[in-house]
Amino acid sequence: MNKYVLILISLLLSLSSISQNMIYDRLDIDQKVDSVLNLMTLDEKIGQMTQAERGALENQTDIAYYSLGSLLSGGGSAPASNTQQGWANMYDDYQTIALQSRLSIPLIYGVDAVHGHNNVYGAVIFPHNIGQGCTWNPELIKTANQIVAKEVAATGIDWTFSPCIAVPQNERWGRTYEGFGETAEIQKIMSGASVEGLQTSDLSSPETILACAKHFVGDGGTTNGVDQGNTVVTEDILRELHMAGYVDAIDMGVGTVMASYNSWNGQKLHGHDYLLNDVLKDELGFEGFVISDWKGVDQVHESYREAVKRSINAGIDMVMVPDRYIYFISILKSLVESNEVSEERIDDAVRRILKQKFLLNLFEEPFTDNSLASSFGSDEHRNIAKQTVRESLVLLNAKNDVLPLQKNNQKILVAGKLATDLGSQCGGWTISWQGSTGNITEGTNILNGIENIAGTSEIIYSENGDNNEDADVAIVVIGENPYTEGEGDRTSLNISQEQVNLVKKVKEKGIPVIVLLVSGRPMIIGEVLPYSDAFMPLWLPGTEGDGIAEVLFGDYLPKGKLTHSWPKEMAQIPISFGDENYNPLFDYKHGLQLFPTAVNSEELLPYAAVTDIQGNAIYLSLTDYITDLDYSSN
Ligand code: BGC
Ligand code: BGC
Repeated sequence: MNKYVLILISLLLSLSSISQNMIYDRLDIDQKVDSVLNLMTLDEKIGQMTQAERGALENQTDIAYYSLGSLLSGGGSAPASNTQQGWANMYDDYQTIALQSRLSIPLIYGVDAVHGHNNVYGAVIFPHNIGQGCTWNPELIKTANQIVAKEVAATGIDWTFSPCIAVPQNERWGRTYEGFGETAEIQKIMSGASVEGLQTSDLSSPETILACAKHFVGDGGTTNGVDQGNTVVTEDILRELHMAGYVDAIDMGVGTVMASYNSWNGQKLHGHDYLLNDVLKDELGFEGFVISDWKGVDQVHESYREAVKRSINAGIDMVMVPDRYIYFISILKSLVESNEVSEERIDDAVRRILKQKFLLNLFEEPFTDNSLASSFGSDEHRNIAKQTVRESLVLLNAKNDVLPLQKNNQKILVAGKLATDLGSQCGGWTISWQGSTGNITEGTNILNGIENIAGTSEIIYSENGDNNEDADVAIVVIGENPYTEGEGDRTSLNISQEQVNLVKKVKEKGIPVIVLLVSGRPMIIGEVLPYSDAFMPLWLPGTEGDGIAEVLFGDYLPKGKLTHSWPKEMAQIPISFGDENYNPLFDYKHGLQLFPTAVNSEELLPYAAVTDIQGNAIYLSLTDYITDLDYSSN
C-alpha cells in the first residue's frame, strides 16, 4: 500500500493494517481522490498539473522535488536504447523517482502513439488515420487500437495523445492524414471505436492505456488549411462538423482531451473559457482532464503570466509546458497566491488528474508489466496491421482485367523509389517527429511485400523505370515524403514532374501500368491518370507492406472507400461532400469493391488508359478524359 494511504489512515484512524486495507478498498474512486487531495500542499497540486518533456528535465530528481504529475516524450524523444526494453527501463526509472516524492503519487507518462507505438524501434506501425478511416470498419479499428495499447503498455507508458479526431477540410493542411476524413460521419464512426480500443471499459487492465481525443476543437477547419490557424465558422458548424466525434469519445469514457492550437473566429482555443469550461466540461459532461498542447498555452498572450492565467481559468487542467517547467510552476503558484487563479480551480484540475491515475490503477501497479514484452512487434500484432492496410486501400479505378496480378508466368516491373522506402510508407510521427525516408524501423516495404506474394512471377525492380527486359505489367509507386504539422502544409499537391515523367516513361513500354500513391492526402493526379491502367492510393500504410501486395494479387478484394472527396485541381480545394455544385474527380465514399473484368464491365465503368495495350489512343485529351470520368458514390 502506498505511503499516502498510510499517512491518511494514521491521521484518521488507528487500526490494524488488515482493516486499514479493508477500509481503503471500500472507498470509491472519488473518495480515494479526495483522500489524496486533502493531504496535498499547493506546491504538490501545481506539480500534478505540470507535464515536462523527458529531455527537458534539468535533474531527474526534479520529478520528485516538484512532484511532477506527468512526463511526455515528444515526437522522437526516445531513451538511448530505443527498444521495448529500453523504454520500459526508462519508464520504471522515472516512476521510481516519482514514488520518492512525499506522497508517492505515481507519474502518468504520455506519448504520441498515433499509429502504433511509433517512437519505438520495432513497434508495429499501422496506417495513419486517413487510411484507417477508409476501412469504414470500426470493429477493426477498435482491434487495431487494442494492439497499440498493448504495445504501449509493454513499455510501461500509460497514455497516448490519440486519437486525433480532426475533420480536415483542406488538403493543404500537413495534418490531413491524422484525421479519419472530411465529414462528421466518419469522425463519429471512428472516434468512439479508437477510444474503446485503447481504453476498453477497464482502464485498470495492464493491457489498456489512457486515450486523448485531440485537438479540441476545429483544428481541421482553419482558413487555407494553415496549421495552428484560425477556424472561421458559425457555432452550428463548429458543433456539427468539428465537435460531433467528441460526443462519442466522451460517451466511450475518454480520459483526456487536448486543447487545440487553432483559434475559433480569432480566439485561441487554449484560453477559450466558453468552449472548454461551458461546452466541453459542463454541457458535454467531460469528466476527464484537459491537457494543453505543446507550448499551446504560450500562444494565448504575449505575457506568459497572463497566458497561464487565462488558460488555467479557461479549463486547462494539465500543461504540456514542456521545457521551462520550473518557471511555469512559479508562475502558476504566484497566480494562486494573488487569487487570480482560485484554489477551487486548482483542486478541480488535480481531482481530474488523480481520478485518471486511480482509474489506471497506477497507485497499485505503477511499474511496467513485463509479461507484455513478448507480444511487442509480434506476428499476431503485425497481422492485424496487415488487415488494416488491406482494408484501407482504395481502388479508384482499374481497366478491365488489369488486376489482380498473376502469381505465375509474369514479369512484373516495379518502379519508383517509394517502392523501397519504408520511412515514407510510414509517414510523419514514426521514429522521429517529422518521420524520415529509408529503413527507419522493422517492416516490409512495398517491393518486398510484392516479392513475398508474387509466387513464381518474376519481379524486376528499377527505381527509374529503366530496364531492358520485356515486362508484362508495371507497378509505379509515386507520392510524398514524410512530414507533419506545419512542415507538411503545401500550396501545391501536384504530383512532381519527375514522378509524372516516370509514369509516362513506363507507360511508353506499351504495357499496363498500375500506379500506387503513397501520400497523406488526395493529390492532384490528372497528369498521371491518363497513363495508368489502375490507380490506388495507399495513404501512409505503415510497416506491413504485404497487405498491399495481397490485394494487388487478388488474395483479397479491394475494400476501401474514400473519406475525402478527391479534388480535380488545386483550385477545387477545399471541396467537401455536401458542397453546392459538388463535382470532384472521385466522390466521397468512392472505391471499387471488386476488380473490373470484361464480364462485369457493364456494372462498373471500366477505366482505360489514354493508350490501350496495343498503343491505340483512347482519349484525345486530358479534358475529354476527365469529363468522362464520372464515378458516382457508393
Ligand atoms: C502536437 C500534438 C502532440 C504534441 C506532443 C504537438 O505539437 O500538436 O498533436 O500530441 O505535440 O508531441
Ligand atoms: C516535438 C513534438 C512537438 C513539436 C512541436 C517537437 O520538437 O518532438 O512532439 O509536437 O516539437 O513543435
